[in-house]
Amino acid sequence: MTVRPPAELVAGPLTLVAFTGSEAPALHRAVVENLGHLRPWMPWAAGEPTETAQADYIALSLQAWESGAAFGYWLREDVSGDLVGCAGLHHRVGPGAIEIGYWVSASRVRRGYATESARALTTAAFGLPGMERVEIHCDEANVASAGVPRRLGYRLDRVQDAEIEAPGESGPEMVWVMAAADWLTASS
Ligand SMILES: CC(C)(COP(=O)(O)OP(=O)(O)OC[C@H]1O[C@@H](n2cnc3c(N)ncnc32)[C@H](O)[C@@H]1OP(=O)(O)O)[C@@H](O)C(=O)NCCC(=O)NCCS
Repeated sequence: MTVRPPAELVAGPLTLVAFTGSEAPALHRAVVENLGHLRPWMPWAAGEPTETAQADYIALSLQAWESGAAFGYWLREDVSGDLVGCAGLHHRVGPGAIEIGYWVSASRVRRGYATESARALTTAAFGLPGMERVEIHCDEANVASAGVPRRLGYRLDRVQDAEIEAPGESGPEMVWVMAAADWLTASS
C-alpha cells in the first residue's frame, strides 16, 4: 500500500497545499512574475512559461502523488491566501530516502518561508514508512538555497559533480542530509 503525506501541512505562516488540478492560472502568474528570480537555478524556467505548461506540470504532479513517486505542494501564505512558491518531496535519491525541493517568490524571500516549508516536509517525510534520510541538493553557488538545510541542522554530506542545468549553476552540487534519528532529537 502506498502511504502518502497529508494533503495540507502547517508550516509557520504558510500552509503547504497539495495540488488539486485547479492551480494552473495562479501558478502561471507566479512563475511569470518570478522568471528572472527562478531562471538562474531552475532548469524548467528557461523558456517562456505558458498556462498550458503549468497545467501539464500539475497533471504530472497529480500522477506522481497517486503513484507515490513525488508529493508536490504549493505554498499558501496564510495572511494573504497567495501562492508564494512551491515545494515537494521527490523519490529520486535511492531507497529509504527522499529529496526536498523548493522555490519562494522573490517578493517573499528572507522571511524563513523556505525554511518553514522544508521543516514541515522533513517531518512529513519521516512520517512515511521506511524513511531513513531526507536530502536537499543545491548547486554550490546557490547560497540562498544552502542556507535552508544549514538553518535546519542538516549535515553537508558531500559535494559531488553534477551537470550544469541552469545559468546560475557552477557545477558542484552540495548534498545535505538529515537522518531520521537526528531529526527526532532536534525536533523533540
Ligand atoms: C532559495 C530560496 C528558496 C530561499 O527561500 P527563502 O524563503 O528566502 O529562504 P529563508 O528565508 O528560509 O532563508 C533561510 C536562510 O538561507 C540563507 N539565505 C536565504 N537567502 C539568502 C541570500 N539571498 N543570500 C544569502 N543567504 C541567504 C540565510 O541564511 C537565511 O536565513 P536568514 O534570513 O535568517 O539569514 C529562494 O531564494 C528561491 O526561491 N530561489 C530561487 C529558486 C531556487 O534557488 N530554489 C532552490 C533550488 S536548489
